[in-house]
Amino acid sequence: MIVLGFESSCDETGVAVASAGRGLLAHALHSQIDMHREYGGVVPELASRDHIRRILPLARQALEGAGLSLAEVDAVAYTAGPGLAGALLVGASVAQAIAWARDLPAIPIHHLEGHLLSPLLAEPRPAFPFVALLVSGGHTQLMRVDGVGRYALLGETLDDAAGEAFDKTAKLLGLGYPGGPALARLAESGDAGRFDLPRPKLHSPDLDFSFSGLKTAVLTRMKQIDAADAQARADLAAATQDAIVSVLVAKAAKALAQTGLQRLVVAGGVGANRLLRRRLAAALAPLGGAAFFPPLELCTDNGAMIAFAAALRLRAGLADPSLRRASFTVRP
Ligand code: KG4
Ligand code: ZN
Repeated sequence: MIVLGFESSCDETGVAVASAGRGLLAHALHSQIDMHREYGGVVPELASRDHIRRILPLARQALEGAGLSLAEVDAVAYTAGPGLAGALLVGASVAQAIAWARDLPAIPIHHLEGHLLSPLLAEPRPAFPFVALLVSGGHTQLMRVDGVGRYALLGETLDDAAGEAFDKTAKLLGLGYPGGPALARLAESGDAGRFDLPRPKLHSPDLDFSFSGLKTAVLTRMKQIDAADAQARADLAAATQDAIVSVLVAKAAKALAQTGLQRLVVAGGVGANRLLRRRLAAALAPLGGAAFFPPLELCTDNGAMIAFAAALRLRAGLADPSLRRASFTVRP
């Protein structure tokens, strides 16, 4: 089954062609980051309008990249949520229209399921069961994954998501949007040991997270340093990254210990963070565990994960192939 998948939940327009057996055949992606940068965050109405402009040319590009015509597509898929309502509607409408015109199944995919299964697009493919650490701008969750569609929540953030913690502290440090990569870059020239920041819930027995207190701590330190002191800002960035990464690594290791599993899959935008990748590899090796990541360019939002998740669902008999014109599913 060849699936054409659409992602438009936030500020990336992604279209891809994938199959369960062959994985990703081609994907096309446009990031709106440059457009939203001057506003310091995503402007929903601008996002929707840009998705409308980009989505069909990207679909054409993805099909061309796969060397396929629309007539060779067996199903379409789209991100049904969570996300920005207007933005989601663009992908859902286009997918539904194609499904209607071609009499194809239209498969709604939960955005986080897309992230969750995206490490299966990389080699080596992690086998089920595994623990997934989902770390994006909107979510921070630990899940037990026993197979496609078989997910159990182990723990999650009680307030801010890890990506949000990166973004908000980056803003305090005067860095641009999106904050995660900017803060990580500044942290490279900093000394994390200079500031002692809180590591919320580091030693709690549960698998939940809490990052909102970190903002206040960073704000307090910001007031204590000279804003023009570039080294102090880099040190604070390094300390912030260290605090977030330390908690993520400790809880992920705890999740493996509690479930008795050895494979950890990391997905979502924060999965692109190099310190997190290094620390996880170092923490899991002595436990006989291993961490799996999606290809770096598929860590943040993309169409590949949506097309692929739908292909896996169809193969597992978990997507209703008769879902066509009757249903229109968007859950912001
Ligand atoms: O998964 P994603 O593209 O969108 C959501 O579904 O939220 O994740 C975006 C988040 C943002 O908060 C961004 O700052 C963060 O991922 N991020 C990073 C890095 N790259 C992206 N955070 C830390 N280090 C990075 N290298
Ligand atoms: Zn995402």
